[in-house]
Parts: sequence; C-alpha cells; structure tokens
Amino acid sequence: MKILADSMSPEQTYKLLTGIVVPRPIAWVSTLSASGLINVAPFSCYTIVSNMPPMIGINIGRKAGIRKDTATNILGNNRFVVNIADETLLEPLHQSAAEYPPEVSEVQLLKLDTLPGESMATPRLADAPISMECQLHSVTPYGDTGAEFFVGEIKVLHIRDSLLNNGKIETTNLRPICRLGGPNYATLGEVVTLPAVLQTPKSVL
Ligand SMILES: Cc1cc2nc3c(=O)[nH]c(=O)nc-3n(C[C@H](O)[C@H](O)[C@H](O)COP(=O)(O)O)c2cc1C
Repeated sequence: MKILADSMSPEQTYKLLTGIVVPRPIAWVSTLSASGLINVAPFSCYTIVSNMPPMIGINIGRKAGIRKDTATNILGNNRFVVNIADETLLEPLHQSAAEYPPEVSEVQLLKLDTLPGESMATPRLADAPISMECQLHSVTPYGDTGAEFFVGEIKVLHIRDSLLNNGKIETTNLRPICRLGGPNYATLGEVVTLPAVLQTPKSVL
C-alpha cells in the first residue's frame, strides 16, 4: 500500500502518524493561567532537545485554529512544568485531555494535589514521580494547522528518591505509561539489556 502524503487531510495524517510513531512518552504539562488557574493536559509529541542546558520540547496543536490553554498559558508567563505519570495516574492523565474551557481547572476537577514550583510560580503535580520545571526557550510553528513546537529549558528536576540509582532512572520502578494510536496506552513490557555500544562522551562545543 502506498499513500501519497499530500492526498491526506490533517485528521487522516494524525490517525496514521500517531499509530506509526509509537510508543510515545507522555508529558503531563501543568501551567498557570493569567488569572491564576492551574491547567493540566497530556502531550505525547514530546522529546529531548538538548543536554546542556537540558531542554525538552512538546508539540501543541490547535482546537479549530485556536491555541490550547496550555499553549496560551506558556506564552503568557514563559513557564511550564512537565510531570511524568506512572501507571497509577493513567486515569486522571487521560481525563485531563478533555476539552474544558479555560476557566475550568483540571486540577480541581480531577482532585489532583499540587506542590509549589521551586523556580517558578507554576505548580507541579504532587503525585507525579518526576516533574521538570521549564522556562520557555522558543516556539516554532510547523505546517498549515497552526501546530507549534514549544521548547523549554529545564531549571529544576524533582525525582522521587527511590527512582534514582547512580545518576540513572530505575525505569522498572518508574512504571511509565506511553501513548499508542487511538485512545490506547501501554505499560512497560519486558526490558531487554544489550552490551553498551561505545559512544563519544557528550561535550560542550
Ligand atoms: C495521552 C494524550 C496525549 C496527547 N498528546 C497531544 C500532543 O502531543 N499535542 C496536542 O496538541 N494534543 C495532545 N493531546 C490532546 C490534548 O491533551 C487536549 O487537546 C487537551 O484538551 C489540551 O488541553 P488544554 O486546552 O488545557 O491545553 C493528547 C491527549 C492525550 C490523552
């Protein structure tokens, strides 16, 4: 089967790509609105962008051409927190994607506890095993639907003590969840360990 990319609508492309680019990690993003409301929503178009300074990025689409609350809030104060959910948080994470109006706080609705940010007013989710406080670095628009790639520089990482071992995350203890195509998720399967392939150490230019 061959599909010509420019024959597809945005909805068809979305359906295909979200089934092809799998499994995706999920950034559970908390932001603060201009009126002080805490907004939370999941984003699985999410990746590492830089090691020094540490930067991560999320791609935020639009709802009928209008920016999502997360994007509006980040542009308002240049701050966001990427929380990582474990298996126990799948249900509220999924529900937090519902399209609530800006004056509704998902945190209140889903009864999620928050903790104040260390380097910013934007709070993090208390039950998340990992949270990363990010300062907006750049926003780059892509394509014809108004999608924007938000890159944030990580200022503070909050990591549950039991997850850290010698500077590395114990992934099996983290029990992360990932997104597949459709409303489908997966948990960690068998972990296969291979002999490390020698890599040149990362250095500053
Ligand atoms: C697991 C999951 C991953 C999602 N990933 C994205 C994404 O990468 N980009 C995006 O624009 N929307 C994504 N969404 C949809 C948003 O979460 C949804 O549009 C949400 O209502 C946005 O909330 P907000 O308006 O409060 O920012 C995802 C939804 C789910 C359930």
